[in-house]
Amino acid sequence: MELFLDTAKIDEIRRALDWGILDGVTTNPTHIAATGRRFREVVEEICALVPGPVSLEVVGTTADQMVAEAQDLARIGPNVVVKIPTIEEGIKATTRLTQMGIKTNLTLVFSAAQALLAAKAGATYVSPFVGRLDGIGHSGSEVVGQIKTIYDNYGYDTKIIVAAVRHPMHILEAALIGAQVVTSRLDILEQLFHHPMTDAGLEQFLADWAKVPQ
Ligand code: E4P
Repeated sequence: MELFLDTAKIDEIRRALDWGILDGVTTNPTHIAATGRRFREVVEEICALVPGPVSLEVVGTTADQMVAEAQDLARIGPNVVVKIPTIEEGIKATTRLTQMGIKTNLTLVFSAAQALLAAKAGATYVSPFVGRLDGIGHSGSEVVGQIKTIYDNYGYDTKIIVAAVRHPMHILEAALIGAQVVTSRLDILEQLFHHPMTDAGLEQFLADWAKVPQ
């Protein structure tokens, strides 16, 4: 399973890269705004820093605008994946971008039906937003399971990025379903490291080691 960091903050990306297990980064307009920096400057820095795929989102709402933006973004580097909203114009744009060989991440996916259309358009990735679905009383992980079944049924290559995760259980559920990727905030990824019994066990081992004659 691949782990992506969902942020545009350089210090967070550096911290996660240090672990040696970070596979990529996803950004969105909200993340860019949170940096307080110019879009182009920050995304160029991220793409140069991260060896794996980096998702950069278009803001146009027509297929023509999305395709033009995507072509421009793709020039930033070979690791650029263009994030396209899963709307009718976005599907049209994705079909064209697939033909051009530009990698896409269909974002704001809230149903398996949307994910089916994205796969038919040749999307590289789809991003179901599990936490936002849970937040309105639906089951985000159930939708991820449906998408996985559909993709397996028809042999679609589109990879599932479980997004908008809110806690480690979302990551665990994604792994059990077999989603290829999870993108998460840094603080949630950090929670994966910890277990109170690991801390207690280590404390005991170190205390016992101190009694060993050196
Ligand atoms: C995914 O690529 C999105 O950037 C992200 O997961 C959005 O999630 P949010 O609901 O935390 O804003």
